[in-house]
Amino acid sequence: MKLFIDTANIAEIKEIAQLGILSGVTTNPSLIAKEKRDFKEVVKEITTIVDGPISAEPVSEKAEEIIKEAEELVKIHDNIVIKLTATEEGLKACHILSKKGIKTNVTLVFSVNQALMASLAGATYVSPFIGRVDDINQDGIKLIEDIADVFTIHDIKTKIIAASIRNPLHVTNAALAGADIATVPTKVIKAMFKHPLTEDGIRRFREDWESVYQK
Ligand code: G3P
Repeated sequence: MKLFIDTANIAEIKEIAQLGILSGVTTNPSLIAKEKRDFKEVVKEITTIVDGPISAEPVSEKAEEIIKEAEELVKIHDNIVIKLTATEEGLKACHILSKKGIKTNVTLVFSVNQALMASLAGATYVSPFIGRVDDINQDGIKLIEDIADVFTIHDIKTKIIAASIRNPLHVTNAALAGADIATVPTKVIKAMFKHPLTEDGIRRFREDWESVYQK
């Protein structure tokens, strides 16, 4: 499973990109708004840091308007992927954009049917939101598992991006459930490194070394 970073914060993307673990970036209107900068400028800057799919989301609601926005966004860089919502207008836009060869990521996916319809409309990626499913007392990982099963049974090529990841266990379980990609906020990526035995091991190595060489 590949890892994308789920943020529009340039400093965070730069910091994590150095580790060599990132294959792409996802943004959404909430994440872009947090940066309080020009949308296209932020997206353009991201494309200079990570050489992989960068999801950018039009904010229009009607397919015709979404397509106009998308056509401007893809001019920024070849790696731009257009994020669309799993709605009738979103799928209408997905169908048209995919016929034009523009890559799409259908987001706010909360059911197998939404994922299936997105794939039929030509989506390159679907993004089921694990955390938000868990928030309403349902099982977000089971959603990933079910979508992955349906895509395997029917040989559907659309890639599954596990999104709305809230903790490191979501990442492990999304990988086990068959997600192709997990898009992970910086805070969770940092938590994925943490293990008490790693920290304890480092402390013991240092103490043993210092007891002989730095008396
Ligand atoms: O990738 C989707 C993500 O940005 C939403 O996460 O935590 O707001 O549900 P969250």
